[in-house]
Amino acid sequence: MSAVSLPKNGREIVKLEDAWKIYQMGTEDVKALRGVNVTFEKGDFWAIMGPSGSGKSTMMNVLGCLDRLSSGAYYLDGKDVSRLDDDSLSELRLRYLGFIFQSFNLIPQLTVQRNIELPLYYLGWDAVRSAQRAKELAEQVGLGDRLGHRPTELSGGQMQRVAIARALTNDPQVIFADEPTGNLDTATGVQIMDVLVKLNEQGKTVVMVTHEPDIAAYAHRRLHMIDGNIDRIEEGTRVTAVHPAGFGPRKELGTPAVSPVEGIAAAHRDAPRAAHEA
Ligand SMILES: Nc1ncnc2c1ncn2[C@@H]1O[C@H](COP(=O)(O)OP(=O)(O)O)[C@@H](O)[C@H]1O
Ligand SMILES: [Mg+2]
Repeated sequence: MSAVSLPKNGREIVKLEDAWKIYQMGTEDVKALRGVNVTFEKGDFWAIMGPSGSGKSTMMNVLGCLDRLSSGAYYLDGKDVSRLDDDSLSELRLRYLGFIFQSFNLIPQLTVQRNIELPLYYLGWDAVRSAQRAKELAEQVGLGDRLGHRPTELSGGQMQRVAIARALTNDPQVIFADEPTGNLDTATGVQIMDVLVKLNEQGKTVVMVTHEPDIAAYAHRRLHMIDGNIDRIEEGTRVTAVHPAGFGPRKELGTPAVSPVEGIAAAHRDAPRAAHEA
């Protein structure tokens, strides 16, 4: 692995400058990002919205260092990462970024503890420290008593909380969440948003793709994409009453199927197209 470190400077954490992404489709060029300029600051909570094909996934993949721009610059915490090679981008993801996917991307054969520990394995942590960290994170997301369970023994909301714990192992600078409530019923989605709001209140920068206005309402700022560029940015106080009136005992409507995922390494390595479709 090449040595990549991010300098700490100022409040900007994510900055795109004249960002273009052009896919070659045979003889045709698909301009998925068309000169986007935007800055996200540390501690922000952004929702990226927009119709299908507007460039949300492309933008998320670039911001999450899963893909590179065709031209323009991407500054992550002040460092231009737009020309880094694949190994360096992988290392950035492993050390500085957290990912949460619509389909959870847990490994079905592994226990909750092992799923959470996986990034620490790649970071070279020893077993004792990793187990301790996994336990703390499981407790933080309310699953301290589920460490020995496997994903199939959990509800959808619990699986997503495991995925959140896993995303937190490296104490990420930014959490990228792609339709994090897309496979969950409304009440469970609210619980997941509670967790994301709490993390944001603890200082984590959160960038989330969603097409649900109710979910986007939890963000401080909503970026609406259209035709590969920013249509408009809405700023405003997010919903703070996270439990709607009458929110009673937990009701989870069945367990969504876990997608056949080869693991977090693969999830981090390959831009998972399907998980980004919205
Ligand atoms: N790997 C790819 N190859 C070719 N075209 C792509 C690829 N990924 C996305 N596109 C095209 O780029 C545009 C934006 O896609 P995408 O970022 O997935 O939008 P959204 O997530 O908003 O639905 C679409 O026209 C899409 O067909
Ligand atoms: Mg998409």
